[in-house]
Parts: sequence; C-alpha cells; structure tokens
Amino acid sequence: MARAGRAAQGQARRAARRLRYTPPTMTVQLEPSPAPAQAPVSRPRIFSGIQPSGIVHLGNDLGAIRNYVMLQYEYEAIYCIVDYHALTSTHDAEALRRRTREMAASLLALGLDPDRCTLFVQSHRPEHTELMWLLATVTPVSWLERTPTYKEKKQNQPDDVNHGLLTYPVLQAADIAIYKATKVPVGKDQAAHLELSREIVRAFNNRYGETFPEAEAVYTTAPVVLGTDGVKKMSKSVGNTIEILASPEEIRRQVMSMVTDTKRILRSDPGRPEVCNVCQMHRFFGDDWEEIQDGERSARTGCVDTKKLLAQRVIDHYAPARERYAELMAHPAEVDGVLEAGADRLRPLAQATMDEVRARMGLR
Ligand code: AMP
Ligand code: TRP
Repeated sequence: MARAGRAAQGQARRAARRLRYTPPTMTVQLEPSPAPAQAPVSRPRIFSGIQPSGIVHLGNDLGAIRNYVMLQYEYEAIYCIVDYHALTSTHDAEALRRRTREMAASLLALGLDPDRCTLFVQSHRPEHTELMWLLATVTPVSWLERTPTYKEKKQNQPDDVNHGLLTYPVLQAADIAIYKATKVPVGKDQAAHLELSREIVRAFNNRYGETFPEAEAVYTTAPVVLGTDGVKKMSKSVGNTIEILASPEEIRRQVMSMVTDTKRILRSDPGRPEVCNVCQMHRFFGDDWEEIQDGERSARTGCVDTKKLLAQRVIDHYAPARERYAELMAHPAEVDGVLEAGADRLRPLAQATMDEVRARMGLR
C-alpha cells in the first residue's frame, strides 16, 4: 500500500478513537433489521449525499443525518459530501474547501463512525462524473427541465443558470448507481430527485440490460422540518435555520425568533399545538411533549416559556456534538485522513461498476 494511504488509514483510526460515542436513539420507518450478519456475508448497501453548505441545521439532522447514524449499524453505509453538486451554486474555491471540511467534521461530530461507514468527498472519486455523462445519454432533457428544484434554482439564481443546474439530478443518479446502493436516506425534499434517479437507471437498464438497482428513499419520522418562520421548509437559502452546532447564544436567538401559533394573540388565549412549529419540534427533544402541548392548549404555559424550554433542550442535546466538532476542527488533518481513506476504500467498487458499464455500452 502506498505510504500516503497507510498514513491516511492511521489518521482515520486515530480519528475513530477520538470520535467513538453512542448516538441518541431515534425511531425510523424501516423494515425490521436484517438477521445479524455473520462476516463475510455482505449487508445491503445504502448511499446518501449532502451538500457542503457550511452549516448543519435542525432540518438536516431530524430529516436525514439521524438516519445516517442509525443505518450505519445495519447497512453497508456510504456517505458523500457532494462538492461537485455544490459547484452549481458556489464559485468561491476557498469557501468550498472550508465548507467541505466543516461538513465532514459536523457529520463525524454528530455520530458517523469511520469504522462503521464510509465518508468521502464526491470529487475524490471522479468516476462519478464519468458515469454521469454515460447516464446523461439515456436521460431525456424534458425530464430534467421539469424537475422542481431546477425551476426553483432558475428563479433563485437568474444570473447563473449554468448547465450543472440542469444536469444535477443525473449526477445524483450516478452517485447512487455507481455503488449499486438500494436505499437512500434523505429528507422529503429529495423525493423528486430520487424518483428521477430511478427513472434514469430504469432507462439505462432497458437499453443496455439489467445493471443497476432502483434505489428507494428512506425517510425519518420528520421528513420535512419547517423553518423558524413556521411556513417554509428549513433551509439555508431561506435563512430560517436553527444551526445545531452554533454557539448556545446563537441557537437561543434562532429558537426565540420562531413563529408560533399566529392566532394566539394573548397569553391567556388557548394555543393550537397541532399548528405550532415549536410544539411540534418538542417531539424530538423529550418524552413529555404531550404534556407540553397540553400546556399550550390550556394556556397553562405561554409561547415564550415553550420556546425557552426548546432552546435549552436543543442546546443540551447537541452540546457533546458541539464539543467534538470543535475538537475535530482543531485537528483538520484527522478529518482529511478520514475522507482520504473513505475515497480509497471505494476505488475498487467504483472501478468495477465503470468496467461493467463501459463494456455494456460498447466503450471497451
Ligand atoms: P442539503 O443540505 O440540501 O444537502 O440536505 C441534506 C439532507 O438534509 C438531505 O437529505 C435533505 O433532504 C435533508 N433536509 C434538508 N432540509 C430539510 C428539512 N427542512 N427537512 C427535512 N430534511 C431536510
Ligand atoms: N441533492 C441532494 C441534496 O441537495 C444531495 C445529493 C447528491 C444526494 N447526491 C445524492 C442525496 C445522492 C442522496 C443521494 O440534499
């Protein structure tokens, strides 16, 4: 093995020791666990990608990352920081490099264990872009033009409607297909992309023979998390996020800015916890959420009390992750080592798929 590879693996092991921790439990809608696998029986493979957006918000964690953490114990899990995808909106090289490392440290801090899953950066396995081109040749342009996220992006960045925005879902299909993953943990906002991924591999299989499985989405119990405005999906581009690894002061500020039940004007008015985003979020941060909802309904408690409690619980829940994040960012070589080892580990898988695909398409 090359010296660089050995060094990277050593770093990955050291980082794994630094990172070992037991994640909080969480219910997900999944089939029963497969019977305990006995080595060397292989486990079903899952894949997911996340953009290096610079921050991790509550929507990312409740909608997807909690499932990443859970599923690494049951599946052969591959998680990818999609820097190629990020280039469709970010053109600042320094920012992209920094955010990619920050996202890796965030995911490790939140419980991804490099001994149990493979974490890597998309551009470190350039086979993804080769497969994207090959899949592009079986993808009608009309499928891409009608993708909701493409239409949205055209509106959000009218001066930068680059070709990558249109091709985005083909690259996403390639990410999943290259490892022949069968399940994809994501938030509900990715449903249309996932459906398109399935259609693209179906089109390939029809033309060139059965090659790729059609991967299914796996959702958490919070597939869509609303932002602090209580109306739109929580998203960095909207600016309605609760940044879970930010300072306690910042988290408190963001939670206290949340819109509650807009019809509850006076403290003495009864609240409607079914429509109050703050009450709904309490479900994920304690067993007493029914009691909390009851307090709102009967006006025993006020919105400010309920928000203060939520802020404190979010701060406490993520305190260990915040500490690990700071420690990892103080040892960037270890984070980079984990990513390098991840990409190395995937090389044979990616190359085997590419050999098969090239042969089927008449390229070799
Ligand atoms: P992104 O930051 O867009 O790459 O999203 C990373 C993951 O978080 C994806 O699986 C998204 O579906 C999920 N996600 C992002 N925002 C939300 C949200 N508001 N509610 C639920 N899941 C979300
Ligand atoms: N489009 C996804 C997002 O914005 C990120 C992504 C890229 C992805 N490739 C993927 C998600 C493959 C799941 C599988 O969040």
